[in-house]
Amino acid sequence: MKRVLLFVALLPLAAYADDLRPLHAAPPAFQAECGSCHVAFPPQLMIADDWRRVMSSLDKHYGDNAGLDEKTRQTLEDFHVRHAGGRKVGAGRTAQAGEPPRLTQTDWFQREHRKVSRTDWTHEKVKTPANCAACHTKAAEGSYREREIVMPDGRRWKD
Ligand code: HEC
Ligand code: HEC
Repeated sequence: MKRVLLFVALLPLAAYADDLRPLHAAPPAFQAECGSCHVAFPPQLMIADDWRRVMSSLDKHYGDNAGLDEKTRQTLEDFHVRHAGGRKVGAGRTAQAGEPPRLTQTDWFQREHRKVSRTDWTHEKVKTPANCAACHTKAAEGSYREREIVMPDGRRWKD
């Protein structure tokens, strides 16, 4: 019974996973600043409080410095918070002390990726779960459809 309820609760998110690109609403700095070192992660994949924590510590960004001028920072924080995910995503955990929360450490992300094997995660083309584009071939465009997934060894996830 509990399983069924959980599944139903997740449906709306799985459905909108088809469209994780609020790019029409995105300020130009979204791709330019947040898509330069890694893909610009869909704001829907973290809750508002987690985005606030990420955006208030850009100079200490998971071991990197992603600092911005205050105006751009505020514009991008507002954008992320406005499009943030809700309860279904859940709070992100922190992987290392002092780090902001991670979207790859939410219950939603881990559940959605539970069928991905250890071999795939540790493949040299992947290295880190944050490397979305290693499997999601259109991640740079904000698209995560299942039929676009090609695993690091070259096999398609869905025919
Ligand atoms: C100077 C390079 C750089 C820039 C610019 C940058 N990031 Fe990052 N970001 C990183 C690195 C490095 C990581 C850690 C990746 C890892 O551990 O695999 C990271 C990780 C993240 C994560 C956590 C991913 C996870 O593992 O769940 C989030 C969220 C994030 N960045 C958001 C942003 C946002 C929002 C912006 C724009 C304001 C931004 N980043 C700009 C380098 C950058
Ligand atoms: C090692 C490969 C791999 C990496 C890296 C990866 N994913 Fe995935 N992702 C998958 C697979 C495989 C599925 C489908 C799982 C299933 O069908 O059970 C999936 C599913 C998804 C879905 C749901 C798609 C749908 O339509 O149901 C989203 C959204 C998603 N991933 C986002 C991300 C994001 C964002 C990142 C980076 C932070 C990421 N993934 C990193 C392999 C990966």
